[in-house]
Amino acid sequence: MSNIFASSVGKKLIMSLAGLFLIVFLIVHLSINLSLIFSDSRESFNKFAHFMSSNLIIKFLEIILFGGFILHMLYAFYLQIKNWIARGRGYKVANYSQTSFFSKFMIHTAVVLLVFLIIHLSDFYFKAKFFGDVPSVFYNGKTYHDLGILVIEKFKMPGFVIFYIVCFIFLAFHLLHGFWSAFQTLGLDHKVYTPVIKAIGIIYTILITAGFMLIPIYIYYIM
Ligand code: HEM
Repeated sequence: MSNIFASSVGKKLIMSLAGLFLIVFLIVHLSINLSLIFSDSRESFNKFAHFMSSNLIIKFLEIILFGGFILHMLYAFYLQIKNWIARGRGYKVANYSQTSFFSKFMIHTAVVLLVFLIIHLSDFYFKAKFFGDVPSVFYNGKTYHDLGILVIEKFKMPGFVIFYIVCFIFLAFHLLHGFWSAFQTLGLDHKVYTPVIKAIGIIYTILITAGFMLIPIYIYYIM
């Protein structure tokens, strides 16, 4: 087992599994966020956000989520640096295949996404979790954080909307290669299934990116 963590192939395997977990997280996160614009009030969104931050099972999954993010990033940077050093010496590290157009920019898009995440988490998550300076709202006599109003206030600022849209474009670049690459690392190399996974990856990326983009655009222009 310790060999898995030590070897480059093992690290890439864990990076892929963590990446797949994050791919699922994005579906859940987007579904919750869309409730902010597809329901009449902020109530469903605030209740979902409350459920996500108070339910014990979700709290456990959150540890896996942040662990997954950290492992995914650390191993990606480690393997990339190893690859650069190896290339400097005239050879390439095993199986860190850089084949498609998007694959060449994984590390660059990753750096942008890391900056995005730091800003994003400090604007919403850390504020709600640790600093408490989030307005409160009452539904049926129970107090909730009004995260919905926080999101709406942010997306009424044009600079913020542009920053998010640009970051989502980088996210799309990252996912376009990351999605099928994760399956490839897990051993999928098949005449029929590989093109299918690639097609699902493209559809997933378009839907997720368009869904995330819709939120700031809708809030800015319509809400
Ligand atoms: C329009 C797009 C987005 C909006 C409005 C949004 C909104 C939010 C809000 C309000 C929270 C705090 C939830 C809470 O504390 O209960 C949050 C947390 C978080 N967001 Fe986003 N988010 C967006 C896009 C993204 C994207 C693209 C990513 C990843 C690349 C992401 C990653 C996270 C993570 C890791 C957390 C902390 C874990 C969690 O609370 O679920 N978000 N987001």
